[in-house]
Amino acid sequence: MSKQIAVLPGDGVGPEVVAEAIKVLEAAASAFDQQFTFREGLLGGCAIDATGSALPDETVELCKSSAAVLLGAVGGPKWDNPQAAVRPEQGLLGIRKALGLFANLRPVRVHPALADAGPLRRELVEGIDMLVVRELTGGIYFGKRACEPHPSGEQAYDTMIYNTAEVERVVRLAAQWAVQRNGRVTSVDKANVLEVSRLWRRTADKVLANEFPNLKREHILVDAAAMYLIQSPARFDVVVTGNMFGDILTDEASVLAGSMGLLPSASLGADGPGLYEPIHGSAPDIAGKGIANPIGMILSAAMMCRDSLAWPAGAELIESAVDQVIAEGARTIDIARPGAPSIGTREMGDAIANVVKSLAPSFASA
Ligand code: IPM
Ligand code: MN
Repeated sequence: MSKQIAVLPGDGVGPEVVAEAIKVLEAAASAFDQQFTFREGLLGGCAIDATGSALPDETVELCKSSAAVLLGAVGGPKWDNPQAAVRPEQGLLGIRKALGLFANLRPVRVHPALADAGPLRRELVEGIDMLVVRELTGGIYFGKRACEPHPSGEQAYDTMIYNTAEVERVVRLAAQWAVQRNGRVTSVDKANVLEVSRLWRRTADKVLANEFPNLKREHILVDAAAMYLIQSPARFDVVVTGNMFGDILTDEASVLAGSMGLLPSASLGADGPGLYEPIHGSAPDIAGKGIANPIGMILSAAMMCRDSLAWPAGAELIESAVDQVIAEGARTIDIARPGAPSIGTREMGDAIANVVKSLAPSFASA
């Protein structure tokens, strides 16, 4: 039976990287006799241009009726006017909320061949393998907000709100991953200042102590977490944190891997389709040039195979192909040594799809 996958290419480099992920998925699927039906929908700036809304109703319906959602990226200078009533990002936040995707999993792994690709020393980043679990449907991204007149001009506010249930479910999910990984959970907050963080810390501690007594747990402040991430990243296994702290810390963590273009993510809810997107944005500066790194998107498709399609062998096949292609030296410009030759988005997708085809028989028989 064919599984329907909603495809939301979005803006900027989104469509370019999504095309490569589909190419790789089709290569894997044909080798395994899996069948996918890809159905495209509008989200973000392209949706605003076509319909006036960043998240048309049809897109929500398409996603809800699919087994999973593949998403490229949204946004760009064309829609950046701060005065604008609708913004592409509203589409992204809206679809996360509409599908109830409260947990955003952002694994950060450093490929040995890329341990020199970033600015940090090899000894520091080699072997890094962590999972950041970012709360995705609450916190300051979704609290009451306004901009209003003020004697000095204007004043604006955004409120950060979490309730017990929201913290419990995301911490529980993070802890379940830690059980399968290295048994350590770090919860990140700002409990020395924020009331909402004190609730987060008490609640997280209770879930971890009562339900996961065998895990090692720690609570650290977000400012210290930002420092440890580059000073001693090996201390982290699973990190769980709120929406905005997770957004900021995962951009920082991508430096460990060598490039933001390498990092995938999975957004999951209690049930229903998961949504899979790279952590990078629409990169308008390089859009249309065919040089974006598609690996973050391709690894997001691998996460989709594992977490939404119950097809772990497909995930492993794609991940192994990415590892092999990197080991063999294929480099898009973001991960190439300065002055060294690099390949484009499509060439990278082709290389990975070809390795998928050549490795598939050993995975199919395993
Ligand atoms: C991300 C992005 C989004 C976010 C933006 C584009 C709204 O930065 O997915 O990390 O902040 O969640
Ligand atoms: Mn971000």
